[in-house]
Amino acid sequence: MSQLQDKFGRRFHYLRLSVTDVCNFKCTYCLPDGYRPDGRAQFLGLNEIENLVGAFSEVGTQKIRITGGEPTMRKDFTDIIRVVADNDKIKTIATTTNGYRLEKNAKDWYDAGLRRINVSMDSLDPRMFYQITGQNKFDEVMRGVDAALEAGFERVKINAVLLKGLNDTDLPRFLHWIKSTPIDLRFIELMETGLGRDYFKAHHLAGADIRTKLVEDGWSLDTPAADDGPAQNFSRDDHKGRIGLIMPYDKHFCASCNRLRVSAKGKLHLCLFTENGVDLRDLLQHQDQRAELVERLHGQLATKKETHFLHDGITGVTQHLASIGG
Ligand code: 5AD
Ligand code: SF4
Repeated sequence: MSQLQDKFGRRFHYLRLSVTDVCNFKCTYCLPDGYRPDGRAQFLGLNEIENLVGAFSEVGTQKIRITGGEPTMRKDFTDIIRVVADNDKIKTIATTTNGYRLEKNAKDWYDAGLRRINVSMDSLDPRMFYQITGQNKFDEVMRGVDAALEAGFERVKINAVLLKGLNDTDLPRFLHWIKSTPIDLRFIELMETGLGRDYFKAHHLAGADIRTKLVEDGWSLDTPAADDGPAQNFSRDDHKGRIGLIMPYDKHFCASCNRLRVSAKGKLHLCLFTENGVDLRDLLQHQDQRAELVERLHGQLATKKETHFLHDGITGVTQHLASIGG
């Protein structure tokens, strides 16, 4: 069956699949008051996930990132990895986690088929980590990162959201860390969400400023590989780790968009910020609904817009990223 493509020639090999909205952290830019359940949330079950992955894999998806909320809050998280790994068209399985279960489970998840892991770590200073995440778990998460490095993951990435007045003095510490540790650091520019307008005004730090600092410090921009997605990657000969900058406000950010998102309740989101999501769940119940599901995916892709409207302060319906996994 034909690959998913939009009117602007972008292809979508990468699916970010949220499996829960629940999170046990209270990152100030995401869930400052912690997770609040809305009714009796029914997140996608293993069967639905299998059918979803089956359909996406038929239209070109090769990489799946399991996201949340905090995806590892799912008791059946290892089974979810297995279900995705059972589909041999999926070449890469990744997850993004806050790392609180990593130390104990890194090996099991690797054995189930997980190959890439992104751990959110907004500061290397335990007190600042606590201030940003509301959880006093810096050491635990750090031990988790070590466990992931030992378990043999293809890539261990660290996500840090850049925050003016909070972790912006951490840059030298981060750079020092990746001198001898083979970690990919991802600095993410804060995105404005529905709930976070004042927070955004107070803490937004332009990614371009970090880029200038890196270049001054001897880091050079790598030539982008065909399927890289929107990050700009930097390296330096005398450092084992690399740095990726994610700058959603950059002019060309959307041109390299290669990802689609499905929420934990089975809605397709063509973009983080522009629309409500289209329900797929009615077509996830039986394998024999696959053709119809594939048709719906193609139909939706035809409506994908060229870019987001963040520049105009339009954040879409996304109140916080825990509902769609960033
Ligand atoms: N802006 C930028 N990144 C965010 N994340 C969550 N909310 C935001 C936001 N408003 C990131 C987290 C985590 C990933 C899941 O999404 O830092 O690394
Ligand atoms: Fe939880 Fe991730 Fe949101 Fe932090 S950013 S509150 S870890 S979902």
